[in-house]
Parts: sequence; structure tokens; C-alpha cells
Amino acid sequence: MTDVNNDLVAELVASGLDRREARWLVEEFVPGGDLDAAGALNAAAKRRLDGEPLQYIIGHWPFRTLDLDVDPRVLIPRPETEELVGVALVELAKMGVVAPTIMDLGCGSGAIGLALLSELRERGVVATLVAVDESAEALVIARRNALKHQLHAVSFVHSSWFEEVDPSLRGRIDLIVANPPYVGREEFDHLDPVLGYEPQSAIVAPDAEGVVGFADLAVIISGAPRWLSSTGVLVCEHANTQREATTTAAAGAGFTSVEDLDDVAGHPRILVARRG
Ligand SMILES: C[S@@+](CC[C@H](N)C(=O)[O-])C[C@H]1O[C@@H](n2cnc3c(N)ncnc32)[C@H](O)[C@@H]1O
Repeated sequence: MTDVNNDLVAELVASGLDRREARWLVEEFVPGGDLDAAGALNAAAKRRLDGEPLQYIIGHWPFRTLDLDVDPRVLIPRPETEELVGVALVELAKMGVVAPTIMDLGCGSGAIGLALLSELRERGVVATLVAVDESAEALVIARRNALKHQLHAVSFVHSSWFEEVDPSLRGRIDLIVANPPYVGREEFDHLDPVLGYEPQSAIVAPDAEGVVGFADLAVIISGAPRWLSSTGVLVCEHANTQREATTTAAAGAGFTSVEDLDDVAGHPRILVARRG
């Protein structure tokens, strides 16, 4: 960092910003110490001090090996979802399918599906992705991220879960990944207000089967077997209160092997339901 930039960081810290975030903003808005850009930097700092997430202000954020464009039309990809990608890669490796077909339900920025395609490409595996979202606006960002990373084997489907997906894909998907909305309405009102900047439709789900925020998970878990191949796997994120509901639903949907994994923080978080 130049001396000018160090001074700018110090100014932002004095105005109340966290030092690490101040550095991020300076590196983003004044990369070469160009003081003409100070206006943009100050506007960005004000947005942050007003509470807007840093990721939306910067407009992009790292997720596994990708740098993803993000804005208020999509959820900011979370670290625990990076773990889900790792779990999905292990499942694919165990399956040993040469050219897997993957479905990402509720793709948002494209985080999960695009990270999988990209990391599989690095391993010489050519996968195909069906990226589904009910939000047409989210699909705009997901498409942009696919182009940004030259991931072309993707079809984008504007659909509520499986409803509009090409029926010819039934029984042919090797892996379904999903990080659906799973927070209850009332729970949401008590969570960090910063979540209010993100699309509520990405976070909040109705209750179902007596379980808070379970309605979208219930649709995905019960619908997945019809779309998966005979050896296919569903890998799905859920709230840390939903382990019993997700594993019970998966067993009831006819999966032959059902496991639920903790995230690195030790919270029950990732359903792995195998057909084969
Ligand atoms: C928690 S966000 C996950 C986004 C992204 N997969 C990630 O992990 O960062 C949930 C996503 O599901 C989408 N969604 C909500 N309801 C849906 C539905 N009925 N059908 C398809 N997508 C839906 C939202 O628009 C949002 O993009």
C-alpha cells in the first residue's frame, strides 16, 4: 500500500470503520493512490457506516476459487456454503461419473454451481450445470458470473424449484445442490439487521410440517429423488435447528443413505442424501 493509501485508511478508521474493511475499501476505490477517486471512496465509506454490507459496496466477493459479482439482487455467499461445495465435490468423486450433470436449486449469484463447475474443470472434469432460481434478477447476476469465469456449460432456468425444469432431465441429474431459504419469518425479525439489505425471498421460508422455515427444504427433499439418477446425491444446506426434520424428510422421500454433517463451527448444517 502507498503512503497516500495508508493515510486514507487511517482517515476511514478515525471516522469509525473497522481497519480491515477500511483497507478493502481503499484498495477497491483508490487502488493506485489516485486522489481523484477520494470522492468515490468517501461515498463508499458513508454507505458502510450507514450499515450496508461491504460486499454490496465493493460489488464482488470471493467464494472458493471464484470472485463473484454480488449486489442487492442476490444473497451474499456465506463461508458455510463454501463447505457445502467441498462436500459436494467429495460426493462427485465417490460417484466417479465422467461428465456429471449438476442442478443448483436457488442459485442466487451462482455461487455453488459455478464453484463446482470451475473446480471440476481444474480437475479435468467437464460438468454441466442447470442453475435454477425463482428470481429473474438473481439469474441476471448468475449469468454474469458464469460469463466472468468462462463457464459456458450452464443453462439458467427461471423456476420455482423443479416446476419449470425440463422434464426430460428427470432421472438424469447426478448431483442436486441447494442452499434454500430456511429462516422463519419471526426468526428473521430478530436476526442481524444487516440481513435486511439482502433479498428477503432468499432468506425467509414459511413453516412446514411443524418446523420453522422448513417449507422450501420440504419441497426440495421430497422432489429431488425423481430428478436424480439411480446413484445421484442431494447435498443441501439447512438451519442448525432442522437436522431432524431434514433427515426424516430424506428418509421418507426414499433416499437409501442419509447423513447430516456439521459445519466447521460444529453446527448441524449439511444434508447428504444418496439414492444409490
Ligand atoms: C439462501 S439463497 C442462496 C443463494 C446461493 N445459492 C448461495 O448459496 O449463495 C436462496 C436462493 O433461493 C432462491 N429461491 C427462493 N425461493 C425459490 C423458489 N421457490 N424456487 C427457486 N428459487 C428460489 C432465492 O431467490 C435465492 O437466490
